[in-house]
Amino acid sequence: AAAPQAPQAPEAAAAPSQPVSREVTVLFGSQTGNCQRLAASLSRRLEEQGFQVTVSAMNQFKTNGLKKVENLLILASTHGEGEPPDNAKAFHEFLYSKRAPQLESLRFSVLALGDTSYEFFCQTGKDFDQRLEELGAQRLSPRVDCDLDYDEQVAEWVQNVIQALNGRLDAPEIAAEAVVAAEDTGIQESAYTRNNPFRAEVLENLNLNGRGSDRETRHLELSLEGSGLAFEPGDSLGVYPENHPELVGAIIQAMGWNADEPVPLNKKGEEGPLHEALSHHYEITVLTKPLLEQAAPLSSNGKLSELLAPERQQELKDYIQGRDLLDLIQDFGPWQVSARSFVTILRKLPARLYSISSSNKANPDEVHFTVRAVRYQAHGRERFGVCSVHCAERVQAGDTLPIYIQQNPNFKLPANPAAPVIMIGPGTGVAPFRSFLEEREELGADGKTWLFYGDRHFVTDFLYQTDWQRMLKEGVLTKLDVAFSRDTEEKVYVQHRILEKSKELYEWLQAGAHIYVCGDEKHMAHDVHAALVTVIQEEGGMSPEEASAYLENLQQAQRYQRDVY
Ligand code: 2AM
Repeated sequence: AAAPQAPQAPEAAAAPSQPVSREVTVLFGSQTGNCQRLAASLSRRLEEQGFQVTVSAMNQFKTNGLKKVENLLILASTHGEGEPPDNAKAFHEFLYSKRAPQLESLRFSVLALGDTSYEFFCQTGKDFDQRLEELGAQRLSPRVDCDLDYDEQVAEWVQNVIQALNGRLDAPEIAAEAVVAAEDTGIQESAYTRNNPFRAEVLENLNLNGRGSDRETRHLELSLEGSGLAFEPGDSLGVYPENHPELVGAIIQAMGWNADEPVPLNKKGEEGPLHEALSHHYEITVLTKPLLEQAAPLSSNGKLSELLAPERQQELKDYIQGRDLLDLIQDFGPWQVSARSFVTILRKLPARLYSISSSNKANPDEVHFTVRAVRYQAHGRERFGVCSVHCAERVQAGDTLPIYIQQNPNFKLPANPAAPVIMIGPGTGVAPFRSFLEEREELGADGKTWLFYGDRHFVTDFLYQTDWQRMLKEGVLTKLDVAFSRDTEEKVYVQHRILEKSKELYEWLQAGAHIYVCGDEKHMAHDVHAALVTVIQEEGGMSPEEASAYLENLQQAQRYQRDVY
């Protein structure tokens, strides 16, 4: 094959160990936008180095061009039980299909984003890495699997990739901060980011559920005044929570530590009192295999090391499930470790992401979000969702919360204000649609809108009922269909309403409607997807395969977007 006519950058000509093409294709599979932002920042960096970069979402990439690609960088996150993000599914399937070509002339590297508390940690990235190798491609640099706090690992991968692309080993070192700074530039006007959150004052904190409900859903309004933060409907709010004081106290007591002793707060060398570290800096509610591996040598009880034996994988998985640091401490004591060294094996307390439920245009200087308190019994003790229960029990008007905006490019209103919009959001999944509708109202958009909402009981669980009613009256909301699952003998869910309205829904789709689904991934979003396939199949007179392809095309055209978790 003829060499591409790419200009040779001076440093590549200097001392390459082998001739390399200066053309790089960067493909990302991203659900919440992390991989997309990292792909953009990587591309800027490569361009600075004189590479010609093509960057695209996997589902926007023409697979028949794959054979011509010489350098391929893949960034992919993993969801649920090892699932690829929506915009990576088709490419993933393609590579594993018979249509996938042999790729001997391809060089590649994979960055995998994930969470070590999940069994199928970074599975999507691992799949791509393994499959490209099977197809004959050569690794430029090894895959890097990232945990939630990914900055350092990303920086390491970027550096290795650039060195390999330059065909030499002496590329300048890249600081993690530089990569993260690059990730944030160009997307955010504000100085406040994931690594430098804004302390937003709480203006309101209301329970949206009525008396007698078995649920508690909080509506919080925060002030953004002075932050310079801005957002679009569909974006998320990152909130740094505080661990439950009782859990923090119980851990310190069980270990016989002193709550005021100074310990490291992070890897940057900052120190603070132990109770502060465990309340605000470290994760104490989730156990991961890497944590147990690091904890085992600190316990004078051999049982923890035994549990980590390769043949006991299933037992380990069952143990980790639903247990926290206090369980670990109680179950595998006695411990011979100082607080100072123990905290260094803990993960950084990650921010929680919530769909924003207000429009920035309609409420400048404010951001609203919706959070359902998570409380349940497990292993003989009451357990609390860290951020949700913090918001429900210990946050009042006048307090502040450390927050940042997480843009979500994969959940955006149509650019055309006249395009019809169908929104499916049971429970707290309805949150972004309040933002969508407020925005459309503010813009005076004239496109039709249709909301499917569901929860347990009409009387106590109809979140934002008065907002929807007002919007219906004023015409911002054209149609509202609700499914209250526990008011009737037989359960009704949003997908039942979708099937009942099948004809009209298909007409909306044919008229160019965009569909949005937000909320529970495992059950709801899956069942809603199946219902949509049925609607398209029946109303369009298609086979199940054709109906699935119709939805896939909608997804590719960004007319079917999901924010599911
Ligand atoms: P349930 O709790 O009565 O089962 C918001 O949580 C609403 O989503 C509730 O009414 C809940 O019903 C419902 N829900 C539960 N599973 C669902 C599914 N697979 N599809 C759609 N809605 C579901």
